[in-house]
Amino acid sequence: RTIYILNGPNLNLLGKRQPEIYGHETLADVEAECRAEAGRLGLEIRFAQSNAEYQLVDWIHEARETAAAIIINPAALSHTSVAVLDALNAFDGVVLEVHISNIHKRESFRHHSFVSGRADGVICGFGTQGYTLAVQRAGRLLQKQS
Ligand code: DQA
Repeated sequence: RTIYILNGPNLNLLGKRQPEIYGHETLADVEAECRAEAGRLGLEIRFAQSNAEYQLVDWIHEARETAAAIIINPAALSHTSVAVLDALNAFDGVVLEVHISNIHKRESFRHHSFVSGRADGVICGFGTQGYTLAVQRAGRLLQKQS
């Protein structure tokens, strides 16, 4: 079973960008931790990041054919993108949303996420650990399905 782990705009700068909010780990560190966790659970992962909304939409479309679950940190697109929400609504598998920071503790424009209207679960404010927790949860949910 394959899980897509998709990351939105500016997350390529993780570790360098506002470390007081997002920490010092890079996205490559996060990918390595997710791969280790997925390996323990016998899951394949495809890990990707883009600054472009259309690219995330295209990957979600691709996941319709190839993935059982999507873990997504849509970053700023969480708060703006009906297109990402619509793409996720066209995906039949498990959707888990991750935010590194606690978006509810921050500016009010971050409090609403369009993606949360589709997500089966949301993790926020757990730092980069949220990703590995989401991989564990996806593993559990996929096990229940099979
Ligand atoms: C974020 C929170 C968003 O509000 C922000 O735009 C991001 C990252 C997070 O992981 O905490 O880019 O999704």
